[in-house]
Parts: sequence; C-alpha cells; structure tokens
Amino acid sequence: MPEESQKEYLEYLASEIALFEGRAAKLADPSLEQVRQLSPKRILDLGCGAGQELMKFNDDSIELKVGADIQFAAGEVFRKLRSNAGDDRAIFINSAGEHLPFPAEFFDLVICRVALPYMNSATAIREIARVLAPSGLLLLTIHTPKFYLLMIRRRLAEMSLKGFAYPVICFAGGVFFLLTGKQPAGNFWKGKETFHTRSMLTRELNAAGLRAISEFDAEGAGGRTYLIGKA
Ligand SMILES: C[S@@+](CC[C@H](N)C(=O)[O-])C[C@H]1O[C@@H](n2cnc3c(N)ncnc32)[C@H](O)[C@@H]1O
Repeated sequence: MPEESQKEYLEYLASEIALFEGRAAKLADPSLEQVRQLSPKRILDLGCGAGQELMKFNDDSIELKVGADIQFAAGEVFRKLRSNAGDDRAIFINSAGEHLPFPAEFFDLVICRVALPYMNSATAIREIARVLAPSGLLLLTIHTPKFYLLMIRRRLAEMSLKGFAYPVICFAGGVFFLLTGKQPAGNFWKGKETFHTRSMLTRELNAAGLRAISEFDAEGAGGRTYLIGKA
C-alpha cells in the first residue's frame, strides 16, 4: 500500500475507535442481548479494521477473539491505541474474507461490520457460513442504497468533484449488481464497494444456508444490521 494511503487508513482506523467509544456510550444495540444469550466462546470479527467491535465482548467465558482483515495494519492499530486493553484472548490476522483459514464450524459468533461491501459478497458469505457453528450467529452490517445517495448529497454540498465520483460509481455498481445478480469485479473495481438490498442479501444468505432472524437500522446513515443464523 502506498505510504500516503497507509497514513489515511491508519487515521481512518483511529477515528473509528473514537467513534466507537462515542457510540458505545449512547447506543442500545438491539441485537446485543440475543448475541449475549448465545454466550459465544469463539468470536471472529471479519474485516475488523481497528478491531473495536471485539471490545464489546469481555465475558470470562470467551476463549478466543479473532480480528481478520485484508490490511495488515488493522491489528497493529488496535494494539497501539489500546495498549491498556491487555486482552490476551484477542488475536489479529491478515486474511481475505473470501478465504478464511479456519476449520468448519469454528466460531459461535461472526461480526462483519461494513466490510462485506468491499468483498466478493457471495463468496465471503459462503465462507462465513462454513466457519459458523450450527447454532452460531452472524452480526452483519451492510450499506443500503441510501448510504451512497447520502454520500452523493454530502459530496455535492462540499462541491468535491473527485469525492462525488466515488459514491456515484459505487451506487452504479450496486444497481448493476441488483439487476444482473453479478457483483462488479476486476482491476477498476478494486477497493470499491457496493450496496446490498434485503433481496440481494437474502439471495446470498439462502444460497449459503443462512437466514436473517432480525434487522434494524445501523447508526442512521444508510447502514443496516442483520442478525443471522443457520437455516
Ligand atoms: C469500512 S471498513 C470497516 C472496519 C470495521 N469493521 C469497522 O466497523 O470499523 C472495511 C474493512 O474491510 C476490510 N476489507 C476490505 N476488503 C476485505 C476482504 N476482501 N477481506 C477482509 N477484509 C477486507 C478493509 O481493510 C477495512 O478494514
């Protein structure tokens, strides 16, 4: 990764930790109760970024927390910023969501917060289904079309032509995905993201033997969180 992009990514991760701390103070997450009842022992945060979502889980019964991200810097940031976290049950690995280096049915809980939009989603969902225990849960946050429409509006207001192009391309890619069932791929698409409507997601979940149990708006900016189990 070029040095400038790496710097931006590290800044992004640091800002996500700060946002998480703000959110944690005021947000009642309706899925957390169901997840806690599951008493997960092994947790995977896929596309973990700074790994802040793993910080929600500190019960003594938890044996292992894994943060996996395609960017190696992710876990490093967690350690630097949370040097006082001292949680030896948390490890970070460099891995693509489409090829997870874990045995089948290994995790009781998989978290994937706004990382699926960047992955080949059908493949990543199949991988998640593979590593999820039979009674396990997936807490998945995706972007809806509204997320990109709001971003387009913001960038227009900022009069940023370069910034404006990105959400337009992502939105157009999402429409293509919606209409054809084929997710854009190739060099041009690398690093770009797509939305998922409920029907797009349901199709991919069903194909992987998963089903949505409940859903709710995530943080009010066009994100949506689904609590998912095995069908
Ligand atoms: C928008 S960030 C979300 C990070 C974190 N989940 C959060 O909630 O702050 C998306 C993350 O997905 C990671 N990512 C993108 N493509 C990936 C892939 N194919 N496999 C694993 N991680 C990926 C990125 O490196 C980035 O850290």
